[in-house]
Amino acid sequence: MDKLLITGGQQLSGTLTVSGAKNSALPILAATILSDKPVSIGNIPHLHDITTTLELLGCIGVDISIDEKLNIEINSNDIHNLTAPYELVRTMRSSILVLGPLLARFGEANVALPGGCAIGARPVNIHLDGLKKMGAEIRVENGYIHAKASRLKGCHLVLEQITVTGTENLLMAAVLAEGTTVIENAAREPEINDLANFLNTLGADISGIGTNVLTIEGVKRLGIENLHYDVLADRIEAGTYLVAAAITSGSITLKNISPHLLDAVLEKLKEAGAIIETGDDWISLDMQGKRPTAVSLRTAPFPAFPTDMQAQFMAMNCIAEGTSTVTETIFENRFMHVQELQRMGANIKLESNTAICTGTELLTAAPVTATDLRASASLIIAGLVAQGETLVEQIYHIDRGYDHIEEKLSQLGAIIRRIPR
Ligand code: EPU
Repeated sequence: MDKLLITGGQQLSGTLTVSGAKNSALPILAATILSDKPVSIGNIPHLHDITTTLELLGCIGVDISIDEKLNIEINSNDIHNLTAPYELVRTMRSSILVLGPLLARFGEANVALPGGCAIGARPVNIHLDGLKKMGAEIRVENGYIHAKASRLKGCHLVLEQITVTGTENLLMAAVLAEGTTVIENAAREPEINDLANFLNTLGADISGIGTNVLTIEGVKRLGIENLHYDVLADRIEAGTYLVAAAITSGSITLKNISPHLLDAVLEKLKEAGAIIETGDDWISLDMQGKRPTAVSLRTAPFPAFPTDMQAQFMAMNCIAEGTSTVTETIFENRFMHVQELQRMGANIKLESNTAICTGTELLTAAPVTATDLRASASLIIAGLVAQGETLVEQIYHIDRGYDHIEEKLSQLGAIIRRIPR
């Protein structure tokens, strides 16, 4: 398996263009199943999870091609297989996103039940309960979810917990259901708005986008001629590079990103001592050569501080001035990076779902193992300031969610290279 070798100590500076959002691209690619006309999707990031999604779509019979501008052309008219196999679902949990669209358009779907993962149990009960309320008959047998419905029926759903992919699955199911569906306590992450806007462009009738109550008037079919849609920029990728610059006391500008996607993150970076400037589609950060100040935070659904940025801020707090508390409220086991950061000299104490971190002036390089996507980002960020050479192993996690990370970091002046297996 590839590894990354990082030589710490370089101050990052320069300009980067933010890629398309993984967590927008995945549901939008799944949503193309709903369209009876070909669609073209642009600004797709170059990631392993995207390859897996395309493989999954290919395996159910979707025709996929890539044009000269790297837009993905998708034609879902020959879907002949309504099963998402375990071999693919186990490598990528978000494969569950094909459940709603397959069921809504073809009246049947068989999707391997995703197991637990490194960051928590991550059940899908809310996805299934919602589909059942819409009239689906659902059996879980032999490790597969088998769902059937002649036509789903609109209904009033109140989600018992805010769930991102749960909201997305139910939204995609509701657009072709008969009548009106209301989803209360819906997640309102920007990626959900992006999916809803894409569905509306296809001919769906969704209102309340951006709020926690989505109202969907079902339509009989979706699809328009010559549709091209560009996915939203990746706010978590952007946030990760901002923290990488902050930890090295550097200064960077990011292009192709609306600052409003990152309000909570930018507030915390300001608290850490960064000078932040923004325009409609850019963000700049300048630490003026100073060491960051420790920032306390608590993760929560959008618009609050995102769980997907927790590990990166933890890395920054390790070398920041002062003591911070970081509380994780979304996933029950999202502190796997802590033990690895401790191996680099970090002073972190775990008390249930809170990490108490007292910054030290120096981290020391060590071989470390990436355990999940954002934990890997956190270890790379720590490696940027650690004294010596940090070897990050198991970096397939990072390739799932960061587009050309070593090239982008090198562009900013980091010393980082991939060691192929
Ligand atoms: N939950 C349930 N039952 C359900 C669904 C969720 O109990 O049916 C619980 C989960 O176990 C968790 C909480 O609800 O404790 C929130 O989970 P959510 O469903 O919102 O997470 P997700 O949809 O599986 C997406 C992102 C994650 C991101 C979370 C939270 C995608 C493909 N994944 O996951 O992204 O952390 O929302 O914002 O959109 C990442 O990019 O690194 C990543 C893990």
